[in-house]
Amino acid sequence: MTDPEGKVVTVGVTGASGAILAQAALRLLEADPRVAHVHLVVTETGQRLFAHELGILATHAKQLPALVTGTRATKIEVLPNKDVGASIASGSYSVDAMVVIPCSMGTLAAIANGTSEDLLARAADVVLKEGRRLVLCIRDTPFNRIHLENMLRAQQAGAVIMPAILSYYHQPKTIEDLVEQYVYRVLAQLGLPQEKQYQWRGQGKGKAQEA
Ligand SMILES: Cc1cc2nc3c(=O)[nH]c(=O)nc-3n(C[C@H](O)[C@H](O)[C@H](O)COP(=O)(O)O)c2cc1C
Repeated sequence: MTDPEGKVVTVGVTGASGAILAQAALRLLEADPRVAHVHLVVTETGQRLFAHELGILATHAKQLPALVTGTRATKIEVLPNKDVGASIASGSYSVDAMVVIPCSMGTLAAIANGTSEDLLARAADVVLKEGRRLVLCIRDTPFNRIHLENMLRAQQAGAVIMPAILSYYHQPKTIEDLVEQYVYRVLAQLGLPQEKQYQWRGQGKGKAQEA
């Protein structure tokens, strides 16, 4: 059962490669009884990446959560990126944490420089000014100096820079294994530790905790 007093989380999805990461995060958040509500903001290019990488094309933005999660997605509310007057644009509205997954270099630049030009960038700006948790799952390779400087600026303003760098020491067999373990760590950074997160306990002893 969902805790009505549970966490309120904002999820931003941009046009960086890795729509599958957003999908895994949204599925876990929707299913998590500790989460009461998810605000979802998808940039125009983010929608394009859902179509290109996952074949998900919503004729109306409101359909996106159900299509992405494969559930009724009752907790996930889509907010238009153009609506800079939405609830999450104000610090008076209480959000526990925000993640941008995946986060493009363009949106990283907007956040690092406080441009607040659209709802996603404004919501991140608000999370930082209110001293709440902001996790940026940046993705590109290689990085240029501008990317690196923007990462440092955002980190110094309080963001957690969590590049979409996947791990292999848990011996993944499928893409899902790779994606899930990364997303478990992202959610743990949002204050939602995951029972299935692999924990290294020394050579030959690491294992995923049983649910
Ligand atoms: C198929 C595709 C893959 C892309 N992958 C990346 C990426 O991994 N990282 C990145 O920073 N930009 C990537 N881009 C470019 C961004 O989508 C582009 O810079 C866009 O303006 C970002 O805007 P947004 O942050 O508002 O979504 C990609 C674009 C396309 C079409």
